[in-house]
Amino acid sequence: MKNKFLVSIYTLVIASFLFMSAGVIQPKYEMTNLGVGPIKSVTLGPIDAKMVSQGKAIFTNTCALCHEMDQLKIGPPLRNIAKDRAPEFILNLMLNTSEMQKTDPYIKALIVKFNNAVMTDSGLNQTQARSVLEYLRSEVK
Ligand code: HEC
Repeated sequence: MKNKFLVSIYTLVIASFLFMSAGVIQPKYEMTNLGVGPIKSVTLGPIDAKMVSQGKAIFTNTCALCHEMDQLKIGPPLRNIAKDRAPEFILNLMLNTSEMQKTDPYIKALIVKFNNAVMTDSGLNQTQARSVLEYLRSEVK
């Protein structure tokens, strides 16, 4: 009984790998897009409470004018953004905003969707941007 269960799990795992390599299952484009900017790769650990509180304060001062968690403001709601986008993408968007708006196909489309409203450069450094990301991670439901 237990063996049968294990065999079906193995089969499932192997099947998913086969489908993935055949391109049938692909990670969502939004998750593979790292954006352009200084951040090439980030490794995320467990959520850091101190960074969350620093990030929350920065968010309130620099992002809340245009973003809420659940409602559309000048920009899109950000409740689950840390789940729906690569962390590199979110950081690069904060750190390299105008360049991303010029080059990133996804952001370009988003600008059109948001009636040409554009996000302004926040002027954050990498440590500050990283804590904002931590805050956004803590808000995911
Ligand atoms: C002046 C208004 C404004 C400010 C300030 C602003 N944003 Fe934005 N944001 C926008 C708009 C408009 C968009 C969508 C179009 C674009 O990218 O310009 C956007 C897009 C985004 C996206 C992409 C959403 C998606 O669906 O992929 C993220 C992430 C984001 N903002 C995070 C932030 C963070 C974090 C801050 C603060 C550091 C911030 N924004 C500050 C207006 C703003």
